[in-house]
Amino acid sequence: MIARIATYRNGPYLVRGDFVITDQDGETVELARRTVALCRCGKSRTRPFCDGTHKRIGFTAHGSPEGAPASVRSSDIVREDRRSRESP
Ligand code: FES
Repeated sequence: MIARIATYRNGPYLVRGDFVITDQDGETVELARRTVALCRCGKSRTRPFCDGTHKRIGFTAHGSPEGAPASVRSSDIVREDRRSRESP
């Protein structure tokens, strides 16, 4: 099974599948689960893992990868959908 990384709107990266997380020295970080949430807001006290702090600080981010072409950002898809509904 390949690893899959999902970006969550206003939240962490969720990593599922077969993967290994290492520290900067290449030492494997032991994981209790096959699915982990990695902090994207930078404020977790358990980095690299998400501890839910993003909710408390009001972190905002797209649900699609940062730097992705505008045409694939979920917010743009929603905007496009609204425009098509507003058109006669
Ligand atoms: S994304 Fe959840 S604590 Fe940073």
